[in-house]
Amino acid sequence: MEFLVKNGSVEKQRTACLIVGVFESRRLSAAAEQLDKQSEGYLSQLLRKGDLDGKVGQTLLLHYVPNVSADRVLLVGCGKERELTERQYKQINQKAISVLNETGATEAVSFLSELHVKGRSVYWNVRFAIEAIQDSLYRFVEFKSAQPEQRRQLRKIVFNVESRKALAEAEQALLHGKAIATGVTFAKNVANCPPNVCNPAYLATLAKNLAADYETIETQIIDESEMASLGMESYLAVSRGSANPAYLSVIKYQNHPNPNAKPIVLVGKGLTFDSGGISIKPSESMDEMKYDMGGAASVYGTMKALAEMNLPLNVIGVLAGCENMPDGNAYRPGDILKTMNGLTVEVLNTDAEGRLVLCDTLTYVERFEPEAVIDIATLTGACMIALGTHNSGLMSTHHPLAHELLNAASESDDKAWQLPLGEEYQAQLKSNFADLANIGGRLGGAITAGQFLSNFTQKYHWAHLDIAGTAWKSGADKGATGRPVPLLTQYLINKSHSA
Ligand code: BES
Ligand code: MN
Ligand code: ZN
Repeated sequence: MEFLVKNGSVEKQRTACLIVGVFESRRLSAAAEQLDKQSEGYLSQLLRKGDLDGKVGQTLLLHYVPNVSADRVLLVGCGKERELTERQYKQINQKAISVLNETGATEAVSFLSELHVKGRSVYWNVRFAIEAIQDSLYRFVEFKSAQPEQRRQLRKIVFNVESRKALAEAEQALLHGKAIATGVTFAKNVANCPPNVCNPAYLATLAKNLAADYETIETQIIDESEMASLGMESYLAVSRGSANPAYLSVIKYQNHPNPNAKPIVLVGKGLTFDSGGISIKPSESMDEMKYDMGGAASVYGTMKALAEMNLPLNVIGVLAGCENMPDGNAYRPGDILKTMNGLTVEVLNTDAEGRLVLCDTLTYVERFEPEAVIDIATLTGACMIALGTHNSGLMSTHHPLAHELLNAASESDDKAWQLPLGEEYQAQLKSNFADLANIGGRLGGAITAGQFLSNFTQKYHWAHLDIAGTAWKSGADKGATGRPVPLLTQYLINKSHSA
């Protein structure tokens, strides 16, 4: 889909379709009001007859509106004028596009970008419209033998803004919105990919392809023999039961005006399949454990968005690729592993594998002397119990970093909620035989997982995002969400302003 912004008057637009809002009850938006005047009351007449009262989700498609140059006018219900939320604004945009897709219109000019969303500017309207539209148009059909039939498709949407002055802001939103939507799509594609295709080597190939596509990116791949010489025994133990070797992909984006500026490091859990290992998972929904690389997918998507925007930053994205399988050679409950930073870990459950892969990766990234390290992981079912599927769990040992991430989350509408860490929780990780146990019991499971990781992050500012509830959807709409690409990209955009 092509997106553009412009500033023009609604009645003069020559287009296949105009999209304008109507509020409850039957109140015309500014653009609809203009059209009503131009057509000598045609719209208000229809509304009086009760064809649309303005509830969110309602639409009415009109042809040949008198004295209007556009072929069609799509009226879209926008709810109560003063109470429009981000969620409703996105729904309205998605609804309009799905209705238009059923018509023969190949392009449209939307005046929904002129609506007033509480606490949001034109920038956010344009950006959220692009993100929401691309999100709802997404299909993963690569493995379907019959491709869906394409009729004449909507190809171009122009967002109108109220004033010439707002155009610069809207252009910026266009750039950011398109980059984020692309990043989200890339993350969804790799996460939806089946685990017999998307294995750690596949993640490494994607990482290398980014370096081929952008001059700002260089990629380095670390294989199992190199991991062994680095002392990453914990990471390797998880991988040992799998026939697919582990790869750690390091994607370096260098574009800060000061080449020596300390990088921001993003670490993604990349379990391309998590069977649970010897502590095997129940069969029901086990297929969804292909999404256990959602953290790595989001880092990959964020690196893509970053490169598209060409932000003046140094950022390193790390994909910790691995597969957790039961096998004669697999690691077992009771094993004691020596991690790269020297701490020993007693394995009490081979299904708590994410932290074992991440702890060595978090030690590995010390070498970059990072400004901050953020890991992103589908780490615990407990996080879904605590927060459900709308907020990612945020944990951090550095208040300012937590604050920046929470801000980015609410700005981007990619929500996160903070959970505590602390020495009280460390007590739950006590082992009789090693420095740490890899599980901390049933209570506060998301927190004890975060607490475990914090033992390996003493050398830098660190935050952890548990995305177990937000990275994908189950049920009839099963599929990756591409979260938290918007949150992470927003954080980087904010960083580029303060750089
Ligand atoms: N990848 C899972 C976490 C997960 C499970 C995410 C279900 C989303 C849905 C992780 O590796 C795991 O298995 N965690 C265990 C930890 C437990 C053994 C302490 C869990 O959450 O059950
Ligand atoms: Mn697991
Ligand atoms: Zn896992």
